[in-house]
Amino acid sequence: MKKNNFKIAVFAGDGIGPEIMKEALKILKIISEKKNVNIQLNEGLVGGAAYDHYGTPLPDSSLELALCSDAVLLGAVGGPQWESLDYSLRPERALLGLRGNLGIFANLRPIVAFDELLDASPLKKNIVQGIDIMIVRELTGDVYFGKPRGVKKGNDGKRRGVNTMAYSEDEIRRIAVRAFEIARTRKKNLLSVDKANILETMELWRDVVTETGQDYPDINLKHMYVDNCALQLIRNPAQFDVIVTTNLFGDILSDEAAMLTGSIGMLPSASLGEKTALYEPIHGSAPDIAGKNIANPLATILSVALMLRYSLSLPREAGLIEEAVGKTLKEGFRTRDIYQKNKKLVGTEEMGDTVVKKLRNLVN
Ligand code: IPM
Ligand code: MG
Repeated sequence: MKKNNFKIAVFAGDGIGPEIMKEALKILKIISEKKNVNIQLNEGLVGGAAYDHYGTPLPDSSLELALCSDAVLLGAVGGPQWESLDYSLRPERALLGLRGNLGIFANLRPIVAFDELLDASPLKKNIVQGIDIMIVRELTGDVYFGKPRGVKKGNDGKRRGVNTMAYSEDEIRRIAVRAFEIARTRKKNLLSVDKANILETMELWRDVVTETGQDYPDINLKHMYVDNCALQLIRNPAQFDVIVTTNLFGDILSDEAAMLTGSIGMLPSASLGEKTALYEPIHGSAPDIAGKNIANPLATILSVALMLRYSLSLPREAGLIEEAVGKTLKEGFRTRDIYQKNKKLVGTEEMGDTVVKKLRNLVN
């Protein structure tokens, strides 16, 4: 029988997190009412907000909440007031703690350019038109988690910093399998990005991805070095379909690719594990514009769509949310980050309410 009871942990976080989350939850409410799915929302604190309240960016209560949920919806974390804290107490540690403890090793970052926003891209229209890239970033390994790590004083009295790039073949295989499976649902092209010309860990990465490819003869697998990939993303982004890469390279390439679409304020992400998943916008907490009702809620709204698709088995409704966002843009509604001349400048709330209206018409 199809499951129709879901527990979702909601962590709005810091900065613009609470305002954009509010709009995203309006969208979720419509779907739960219309589809008769019972979605239980449990809110918790993470990031700077959690530090201020509990003295730690990821309190046990929030981690427990996440662990017993079907999915986690997250706004954003971080802000200047927490930047001088010890590294282990910074808001960003909450993200790494959630990723590690939930085992959400596959981070999907779809980079899709909405036709209506092509003028907002810093690149020429003919270069970015039609791009549809899925970046599959490994999320629980690499220098982010490798040991040893830290800064220590050596015998000469001088400090030395160390982080470790490390991947086991099992870690590489499981992300490769996810990427091949995703490529199968798309144009069947998979590009693995590494730095195998200089790093042994990356040589292993390339070998294991190639071996995994033997089980996917229908997928066209290619390899590229990360520096060349950074260049090709600007030169000819339309060549890419699915990209699978490591934690650090994926972090950097996904920010670069996000900018192709004109605004990082538009892009959602999904982080999938064996048991649960986490959904969040790619952008950060933008403390400079927090509380002003000018932030763009669309990336968080689109993250709700990804949650319906990957965790709630509601792909049709996910598509309707994406369609509602497309219609909203087509009618000229723009938040400040994507504003163009002669369009309708709206705030966070009005943008959310407009998508809500479009969605209501679509689901009825
Ligand atoms: C991201 C962010 C995080 C990362 C930071 C905030 C820890 O940049 O999700 O891309 O580096 O993974
Ligand atoms: Mg990043």
